[in-house]
Amino acid sequence: MARLQVTEVFRGISMPGQLHTQESLHAATNFQFQDTDVLLVTFPKSGTTWMQQILSLIFNKEDLQNIQSIPTWARVPWIEQIYLSNYLPQVEASKPRLFTTHFPAKLLIHNLKNSKARVVYLARNPKDVLVSYYHFHKLAKFLPEIGSFDDFFDQFLEGKVNFGSWFNHIKEWLGVQQDLNFFLITYEDLSQDPHGAVQSLCNFLDQQLESKELENILHYCSFSFMSQNEQLNYSLIPSEVLDHSMGKFMRKGVTRNWKEYFSPEQNARFNNVYQAEMGDLAVKLPWSLD
Ligand code: A3P
Repeated sequence: MARLQVTEVFRGISMPGQLHTQESLHAATNFQFQDTDVLLVTFPKSGTTWMQQILSLIFNKEDLQNIQSIPTWARVPWIEQIYLSNYLPQVEASKPRLFTTHFPAKLLIHNLKNSKARVVYLARNPKDVLVSYYHFHKLAKFLPEIGSFDDFFDQFLEGKVNFGSWFNHIKEWLGVQQDLNFFLITYEDLSQDPHGAVQSLCNFLDQQLESKELENILHYCSFSFMSQNEQLNYSLIPSEVLDHSMGKFMRKGVTRNWKEYFSPEQNARFNNVYQAEMGDLAVKLPWSLD
């Protein structure tokens, strides 16, 4: 099946042209945040959909059943995508407004730092991000054609994929966290201790949950529930956009899947780059590179 179209490049960052225009990207840099907003920030394939679902469940705990009929991208839309205006009326009607972005910090910080909006940065072991992104390229017709896993591995390490370098993305956002109402959470935290991770997220969001509500949220955000629900698993996206014969959006939903893909040589190379890029980072990230 043919690839859809070209990449949009905005201030040095490539993004899928199917979802973004220069106008939508420019508008996002001027987005007016409100103090009550919650902004989810991720590098692609870090569990964005999972966290969109969690945030939305936390703020709709009285209506957990019904909100499942609205796709996650409409409940927690990306501020930089052309579809934002379609979803704004509904998002505006709820408080707080929930938004997502894959933008690097440098494109948003000037506006964000003037607001008290809560920023939830969801990070994932970049080795698993790489593997998930590789598979996603096979089905997402709005992403560039890629060659072998080995080719993609090199492109990812060099930051030559859509949204650029994973290393720059996380370092830039962690570098501005003091200026923001900021919370770091990881895919690994959510996988290993979903109960504790959602509870600490709720503390940051100033939301109290009854234990039954927390149990329900954990059920509705589980991989088994989300991967079976058509509104959540992206299976309703037309096949010209996501070629479902090439794989599933909800692929594995596990940590450390990279072990099945990296050769020993690639692993050593990745670790060297990781150490060079992240060695000085003060924050302890909960994944193992071994
Ligand atoms: P895998 O390809 O490793 O399975 P994003 O939403 O940022 O595009 O991230 C997609 C990744 O998150 C995919 O990873 C997907 O399976 C995983 N994911 C989505 N929902 C999940 C859930 N409820 N639990 C665990 N992983 C989930």
